[in-house]
Amino acid sequence: MPSFDIGDEDFLLDGRPLQIVSGALHYFRVHPDQWADRLRKARLMGLNTIETYVAWNFHAPARGEFRTDGPRDLGRFLDLAAAEGLHTIVRPGPYICAEWTGGGLPAWLFTDPTVGVRRAEPQFLAAIEDYYAAVAGIVAPRQVTAGGPVLMVQVENEYGAYGDDPLAERQHYLRTLTAMLRHHGIDVPLFTSDQANDEHLARGGLPELHRTANFGSRTTERLATLRRHQPTGPLMCTEFWDGWFDSWGLHHHVTAPEANAADLDALLAAGASVNLYMFHGGTNFGFTSGANDKGTYRPLTTSYDYDAPLAEHGAPTAKFHALRTVIARHRPVPDELPTEASPAPELTVSLDRHVPLDEVVGLLGTAQRFEHAPTHDDVAAWDGFVRYRTHITADDAVLVVDEVRDRALVALDGEPVGLLDRTTHTTAVALPARAGELTLLVEDAGRVNYGPRIGEPKGLIGPARTARRELTGWDVTPLRFDDDGGTLREEVTAALRAAAPSGADVPLPGPVLVHGTFASAEGADHFLALDGWAKGVVWFNGFCLGRYWSAGPTRTLYVPGPLVRATGNEIVVLELHGTRRSTAQLVAGPGLGPTEE
Ligand code: GLA
Repeated sequence: MPSFDIGDEDFLLDGRPLQIVSGALHYFRVHPDQWADRLRKARLMGLNTIETYVAWNFHAPARGEFRTDGPRDLGRFLDLAAAEGLHTIVRPGPYICAEWTGGGLPAWLFTDPTVGVRRAEPQFLAAIEDYYAAVAGIVAPRQVTAGGPVLMVQVENEYGAYGDDPLAERQHYLRTLTAMLRHHGIDVPLFTSDQANDEHLARGGLPELHRTANFGSRTTERLATLRRHQPTGPLMCTEFWDGWFDSWGLHHHVTAPEANAADLDALLAAGASVNLYMFHGGTNFGFTSGANDKGTYRPLTTSYDYDAPLAEHGAPTAKFHALRTVIARHRPVPDELPTEASPAPELTVSLDRHVPLDEVVGLLGTAQRFEHAPTHDDVAAWDGFVRYRTHITADDAVLVVDEVRDRALVALDGEPVGLLDRTTHTTAVALPARAGELTLLVEDAGRVNYGPRIGEPKGLIGPARTARRELTGWDVTPLRFDDDGGTLREEVTAALRAAAPSGADVPLPGPVLVHGTFASAEGADHFLALDGWAKGVVWFNGFCLGRYWSAGPTRTLYVPGPLVRATGNEIVVLELHGTRRSTAQLVAGPGLGPTEE
């Protein structure tokens, strides 16, 4: 019977010491046809293990669902890792942070405000029980103890950073999750991970679960901190931060490969085990990116390149080679090197057909009538856009909301009049002195994934008012762009194909859907640049690539090769504000934007 245990000094695989040299790769951020390629490159860098979170809300887009189709086929991902000779570590949360919308917690879970968040509240626990049962159904038969690749499973995530419940309640919560995992057949070691400081390590774990720490520098000091809280057994850095994430409107984060290499060397020389966060970051496709809010709401970019050793498009970077050299000092590394990526095809695509968004709203959703403005969650809109409509009179003068989550384009009889914006705390917009139909196109730009705002609703918060009254009598339409299969609704594409062609390269006012087609190299990666466009969302052959924004730093959207056909590739852009030109550029490589230096 194969075994994996936590010994007095080492991790023990079948009784023999194992130094885990792992890298994070989230299957939900990589096209499934590219999983095998990325896993192979992990082995070539010298890793012996792959770690992935499980994003609950990715598997459960609605209550009662647990999907395991194509991009959600966790079992297939783990099997591919095993086929590559890699061990695996699974971190199913329920909360994962990870710059993923809601930190992985499904928004539908919190429509009832009595449901607890990350504590031992019965409704929250009942939902986790169902989720854990489903995940364990995939993971349990793939544990080392069953001849599979899974070495360990993490309970919660950086729980020490969250909340201020008394220690006894915190421990009761963690113990309940532990018991659930055991009940559902997880028999490999369980562990927790926390930021490497005394307070978090003390609050985030349990004596009976192996504690690990997250850090990206000051190795000796951090390992000593961890040792105070985990007196015996192997030391592990579960998130060795070898890069960092990007937020819209800020610079692109990079870390020096030499510094990462020196810190990794120190870790491995100390005999510690490690999981690189990230080995390969991938992409926040669709509406999956999260947000931070520490007083200023900062939504996260579509790219999750993370300045990781393997770039967003799977290319080895200088950091890949630097870390591989370090790993080779401590364990055998394959001689083979992954091939460098060749430049992507470059061309200009004319997006010559367009339809104002307003004209297709009827295809995207059905209006519901509300007396008081509801939240997105009240209309079961767990991501994306909702259109709010009501009437104003000539003396309403100004629109005021308590809070907008996260951005609302305000129009009167179709004419743009202003913007409500959470990041800049803009909660009032002047209204023209005339009666008419007021429309708010409200965007959920990503649910907060860290800190006390996890689980909060989106949309308009509190009553929407004017200078003299509360605005009532709302028609509210959630815009569901994708069909149940996760691709852009065929009716939308059909409406665009049927539109009369406009002149080449013309400026267009938003909100508008714009469409174009092109031929290229089948299966080749592409990088889509929308210079001159403001803000919106892109679909490529029906697949939602995610958001773009002139605020940057990211300048390109990654188009995974498996999506690309030889002919008849279709690009659909939802532009919210307006574009200087109706063309898109396909460029040779990623543009992740200016760094701080
Ligand atoms: C923490 C979390 C991760 C991720 C990183 C930052 O360590 O545990 O999920 O959010 O921060 O990238």
